[in-house]
This record gives sequence, C-alpha cells and structure tokens, in this order.
Amino acid sequence: MLQHMDEIDEVVRVRFGDDGVAEVVLSRPEKLNVVNLQMRDSLIEAFTAVRDFPDLGAMVLRADGRHFSAGADISEFGNAESIFEARRIRWDRDPWYLLWTLPVPKVVALHGYALGSGLEMAMLCDLRIAAHGTKVGLPETKLGMLPAAGGTRSITAWVAPSKALPFIMAGEPIDAERAQVLGIIDEVLPEGADVDETALSYARRLAALPRVAVRAALSAAKAAHELPLREGLAAERRLAYLTARFKSN
Ligand code: COA
Repeated sequence: MLQHMDEIDEVVRVRFGDDGVAEVVLSRPEKLNVVNLQMRDSLIEAFTAVRDFPDLGAMVLRADGRHFSAGADISEFGNAESIFEARRIRWDRDPWYLLWTLPVPKVVALHGYALGSGLEMAMLCDLRIAAHGTKVGLPETKLGMLPAAGGTRSITAWVAPSKALPFIMAGEPIDAERAQVLGIIDEVLPEGADVDETALSYARRLAALPRVAVRAALSAAKAAHELPLREGLAAERRLAYLTARFKSN
C-alpha cells in the first residue's frame, strides 16, 4: 500500500511533498507509459493514497520519458482466456472514476504523445498543461474500439459536442494548439518551458489557498456536471454553508 513519502513501484511513482502537493508519475518510459494491467493496479493504489492522504492541497500527474502516454497496452489485447475474463479484469480495475472524484485539484503535465487512455486520464484532471509539441488523440476507433477510459464522457464535459464528436470518432491525433482551441488543453507552453515545473508551480499555488474552500469549490463545480440546475445550486449552497462553518470554527 502506498502511504507516505517517495513510495515507488515499478511503473508508478508517488510523492507527497511538504508543500501539500502529491506527485503521481507514470514511469514505464521504455514502453511510452502505456497502461497495462500492472499500471492500472498501481494507479488505483496511487489515487487511493492521494484520496486518503490527510490535508492534501493538490495533485500533479506527470510522466517520465519521451511521451506522456501512448494509451492502452495493445500487447495485452486478446490475451485473456475469454471475453468474460477480459471484461472482469477491466471491471475489477477502475482507476478512472477514482481519479475523477479525487477531492483535490489535479494538474496534469502533458508532453510528447498523449493518446487513448493517456489523454483520457488527463481529461479526468482539472487543469491540463501541455509542453510545446504535444500531440493528443483518441486512436481507439481505428483499432475497432471506443475510448473507454472515460473519454466519451470527460471530453464531452469540457468540449462542445459539435467539436468533441469528430475528435472522438476520427481517431487522428491533433497538435496541442488545436487542442487548446477545442478546450481539450488549457495551456500550451512555449518551446523550452518546463511543463513539469509549470504544473508543479500551479499545484503549489492551489495548495497554498485555504484547502477546505478549494475542495468545496471543486466539489460544487463538479456537481454541475452531474446534477440538474436546481440540485446543483442546492449542492453549492450546502457546501458554502459548510465551508463558512469550518472557517468560523
Ligand atoms: N501498446 C503497447 N506497446 C506500445 C504502444 C501501445 N499502445 N505504443 C508504443 N508501444 C511500444 C512499442 O511497441 C515500442 O516497443 P519496443 O521498443 O519494444 O519495440 C515502444 O513502445 C516505443 O514505441 P515506438 O512506436 O517505437 O515509439 P515512437 O516514438 O516511434 O512512436 C507513437 C510513438 C505514440 C506514435 C507510436 O508508438 C504509436 O502510434 N503507438 C500506438 C498508439 C496506440 O494505438 N495506442 C492505443 C490506444 S487504445
């Protein structure tokens, strides 16, 4: 179980800093950080540790090597003993909802290629920063599949449907500048700028704010995606009341 500082496993590294920022690092660079079953399990451990770490201010998701992630590990496709086994393996391991529902702001640092589930995990974060030259795409349809690491939901949450649907269906990577215009990426850095440092500095700034207020604002904003307007407003009111009570204690 990943619990404290600098815990490392083979493909995911987690670090909890004194600045209130957790870093989760994809570290399978020789295979472009593709998501295999081991990485899914490690991500579940990492995100669970982030969820349960006391008084955390923010999280950064970043990756070692030339590319952020080339998506699912296609060498594992078709390896399961049966279609039922293949489904069970995936149902039993769902890091994606865990990532989406983490109570702290998540900043992701993209570079190189972010494809398939690599991009989809970024879409489940709250702020997406991309290095110069980053390319993003959902190649799943070209492989006869659909984006199933949350992509059909998360991308339509951030991007207007008229723009999201061609991107989800076509399978072609696009460059970061185009992705920013679509709303997939929030900021593209100039050539030479360090994307990991930039993401960390955003996260540190967020972590320096009153943490209960930031968590409550995030929670209320997320509720907007899931609740009808009236219930979303009620959730916001409830969280505002709780935050004010916390502040006055
Ligand atoms: N699954 C499994 N292994 C993968 C992979 C994937 N999705 N993507 C890359 N790899 C492996 C390659 O097989 C290669 O392994 P090897 O060194 O043992 O031969 C290694 O990662 C490096 O990949 P390579 O293609 O040589 O790197 P590149 O920089 O020339 O190209 C990409 C980068 C991302 C353009 C290219 O790797 C690619 O298109 N990958 C497939 C993307 C994809 O379809 N993802 C599936 C999403 S569902």
